[in-house]
Amino acid sequence: MVAPLSPTEYTNISTLLEKTCGIHLEPNKDYLLETRLSDLAIQEGCDTFGQLYQKIQSNRVTLLPKVIDLMTTNETYWFRDDRLWNYLRETLVPQLLEDLASGKKSSLRIWSAAASTGQEAYSFNILIHDYLNKIGKQYLLSKISIIGTDVSSTALFLAKTARYNSFSMNRGLTEDQKNKYFTKVKPTTWKLNDELKKQIEFKTFNLMDPFTSFGEFDLILCRNVLIYFSKACKTEIMKKFSKRLHLDGTFILGSSETTLGYSNSFKTQNNNGAIVYKLNQ
Ligand SMILES: C[S@@+](CC[C@H](N)C(=O)[O-])C[C@H]1O[C@@H](n2cnc3c(N)ncnc32)[C@H](O)[C@@H]1O
Repeated sequence: MVAPLSPTEYTNISTLLEKTCGIHLEPNKDYLLETRLSDLAIQEGCDTFGQLYQKIQSNRVTLLPKVIDLMTTNETYWFRDDRLWNYLRETLVPQLLEDLASGKKSSLRIWSAAASTGQEAYSFNILIHDYLNKIGKQYLLSKISIIGTDVSSTALFLAKTARYNSFSMNRGLTEDQKNKYFTKVKPTTWKLNDELKKQIEFKTFNLMDPFTSFGEFDLILCRNVLIYFSKACKTEIMKKFSKRLHLDGTFILGSSETTLGYSNSFKTQNNNGAIVYKLNQ
């Protein structure tokens, strides 16, 4: 049994969390720290959260990733937000692929920047495969790269395995998509087919780190993560994204998020309710 979290322990751990991965906890979220970290405290032989904090400080390499894993919210599902995915399916994906087919673009680079367990990056790849199958230009796949990054190694592990249980499969996929792009490997487990899996590279990356090693992208999705960050972190991260976007690139946030008030680098484009951002030029 771990002693209840004291105000000082709460401040210490939540400050550490914000500094390392941007997640900002409001003062009334002490129950969240307590419930999510108490098992770890017990495993580490700590009687108090103060002891756990000291342990994390003296063994950051091993314990910080565990804390981050426990404190991140990995909620995601296929084609999350109908209006956005309708726009991607009907407009943006055809546009990007036609530019590639005509030679206007020589390659396409897409980044799912809070990829969680992979559904967002794979949903996008399903749209790509659907469209290329429709126009009979599957050879263009070799010119497309998709990367998925996340700070949570547990979430990324699942993304890399590309195996999903029935619960996940029933959140956003049509029967047709299931049958076309997945194979049932056990009564309750489905595996994404290799041709969709192999095109995506998943790697651990913290949005608090510099983005300089990434090159530029045609599309960046950073959805449903910055809601957990402070204003200062959002501002800084949006600035970094603006530098990683091609001049004609598209930046997409979650449906309850906005660049307004955080960045002047973007202008808003409203496509029948699907909000996307383009660089101000
Ligand atoms: C709620 S999920 C959103 C997943 C997906 N983008 C979607 O909209 O369905 C948020 C993800 O952001 C990740 N995350 C949180 N802080 C992060 C950080 N500092 N760097 C990278 N990823 C982070 C979490 O691990 C989690 O998987």
